[in-house]
Amino acid sequence: MSTIDTAPPDSTALQIPLARNASIDGMDAYRALVTEANQDYEAFWARLAREHLAWHRPFTKVLNDTDAPFYHWFEDGELNASYNCLDRNLINGLAEKTAIVFESDDGKLTHVTYQALYHRVCRLANALRARGVKKGDRVVIYMPMSVEGVVAMLACARIGAPHSVVFGGFSAKSLHERIVDIGACAVITADEQVRAGKTLPLKTIVDEALAMGGAAGIKTVAIYRRTGGQIPWINERDKWLHELEAAQPDTCEPEWVGAEHPLFVLYTSGSTGTPKGVQHSTGGYLLWAAATMKWTFDIKPEDVFWCTADIGWITGHTYICYGPTAVGATQVIFEGVPTYPNAGRFWEMIQRHKVSIFYTAPTAIRSLIKSADANHAVHPDSFDLSSLRLLGTVGEPINPSAWTWYARHVGGGRCPVLDTFWQTETGGHMISPLPGVTPLVPGSCTLPMPGIDAAIVDETGEEVPNGNGGVLVIRKPWPSMIRTIWGNPERFRQGYFPGELGGKLYLAGDGAIRDRDTGYFTITGRIDDVLNVSGHRLGTMEIESALAAHPLVAEAAVVGRPDETAGEAIVAFVVLKAERPSGADAKRVADELRAWVGKEIGPIAKPKDIRFGDAMPKTRSGKVVRRLLRSVAKGEVISQDTSTVENPAVISQFADAA
Ligand code: WT7
Repeated sequence: MSTIDTAPPDSTALQIPLARNASIDGMDAYRALVTEANQDYEAFWARLAREHLAWHRPFTKVLNDTDAPFYHWFEDGELNASYNCLDRNLINGLAEKTAIVFESDDGKLTHVTYQALYHRVCRLANALRARGVKKGDRVVIYMPMSVEGVVAMLACARIGAPHSVVFGGFSAKSLHERIVDIGACAVITADEQVRAGKTLPLKTIVDEALAMGGAAGIKTVAIYRRTGGQIPWINERDKWLHELEAAQPDTCEPEWVGAEHPLFVLYTSGSTGTPKGVQHSTGGYLLWAAATMKWTFDIKPEDVFWCTADIGWITGHTYICYGPTAVGATQVIFEGVPTYPNAGRFWEMIQRHKVSIFYTAPTAIRSLIKSADANHAVHPDSFDLSSLRLLGTVGEPINPSAWTWYARHVGGGRCPVLDTFWQTETGGHMISPLPGVTPLVPGSCTLPMPGIDAAIVDETGEEVPNGNGGVLVIRKPWPSMIRTIWGNPERFRQGYFPGELGGKLYLAGDGAIRDRDTGYFTITGRIDDVLNVSGHRLGTMEIESALAAHPLVAEAAVVGRPDETAGEAIVAFVVLKAERPSGADAKRVADELRAWVGKEIGPIAKPKDIRFGDAMPKTRSGKVVRRLLRSVAKGEVISQDTSTVENPAVISQFADAA
């Protein structure tokens, strides 16, 4: 995909000062760290791992690469993630510090201290143990944004049970796929979730998923009572979370695990096949969660941090559950959506909670710009945002005009904007400005984090000169990298360390270019068939398979089209088994297919546009000509050579949206 506008408007007029006394203070300090990593890579990471984490048993080995690309970090060290995120803070005198300020959809506030969070996690950890969940067992978490969601994750970590959080917007079928693939023994969920004043089911969807078969291993469904709405109930298996917790002591001996013990598996979309379970380690992952909280977000004791992501995505794992707690920070967690009760909600919340570090997605910014333009009452200028000192974005390229608006109207021209590039697979930030170091350029994620050996190469793995585009790779393993794909090590090896590039470079899946003068990186978008819709990652193949599973559909192809708000919009080209529909008929079928995709995957995967044709435009060898479909989706006049297309006549049929 590409960014929407490329002209940096009046951004250069904005002189945003660097943060003072930042944890990496100045370009020289940054260079010193980069040099330290270059001179002795293992010693660099060993130092950080000792500084940022509390080890139950210190490691003696740093990196084991004998089984590359299955790297092992700190492998003979032992620790516990929840100990690092909770007990350590109590020992450091932070017991009475607020860990979480939770704001519900309807504006109710709950303050949770580190002491209280610790006890809740211990109680649930004990309860899970009492239900037979032990080290290595997998627990699926299907929860709304809540204190309970974070408690559930940390409770799993406490007993060494890898969690797999499934975003609450995924369908029963998607949930089922993940429960079965991971072989879970328990599900933690809520009766319902609340978003924008409406309740949506969760427990009912869990029951639907479990009824699809293959999930006999599920012995417990623990349910957080969020709304008290009616839900189905299966005795023995279903338990209220509050009753489970109430029956347990409020301390719990942590399970000490090896640094490589899987902390969690998080499913994400690839260009082919079903979503893959990205497996992360305990030691290496947590190290980077903590270190980037300090380096990128320069977190200080008095900061109020707010990351607006959902715990169902990696951003919510690293920068809600693990990162902020690992460094003893105070954070805001929000249940709702940015547009309810109105599009001023984010700005109002920043003002109310005196948020100092705000981290959100470009898609949210773009949609809030529109609302602010239409109604001054919800414009950030109408709020007191003087508490802010740093802003961040994540998930997709940010167009310079949105960047500039964010910097000016939200950041008041004072706050560095950190455009953080990373992925589910990387565990934490890879390429990002640092607030005390990097002069900013809108639209660029600037420079790699110290220790991250990012480069841009051509199809053969050769580095390209600055100014030339290519594919983004990471040349050296790093502690928080993906360890494997759950149950599919070969897919891991081939997908991320492809032989074409020599088998040693980590392939991010994005195109990138470095500036000729500054060496700054700009991400140009995915090089595979992965779409980024409102910062959500979706595989075109997944959506195609969902469409093709509908009884009316003979064939489907899905492409992305640049979209002003969502970044990318899903456009589906469909051939029905029956005749090509037109007019009201086409609209009716399109609506049905949209609803179907919502059921198969989740509402985020619904195509914005559905087009019908008599046949797919294909080459003589039977390959769908996606390049052509991308042009059609954009409404471009087809000037490309269509002589290799077997049936060029169908192209014009696809030009009209249903
Ligand atoms: C893909 C990863 C990282 C957490 C959220 C998304 C795109 C991510 C940026 C950025 C341009 C970005 C890439 C990447 N992406 N951050 N700052 N600038 N593109 O995690 O779902 O694993 O998606 O998101 O295409 O590969 P994810």
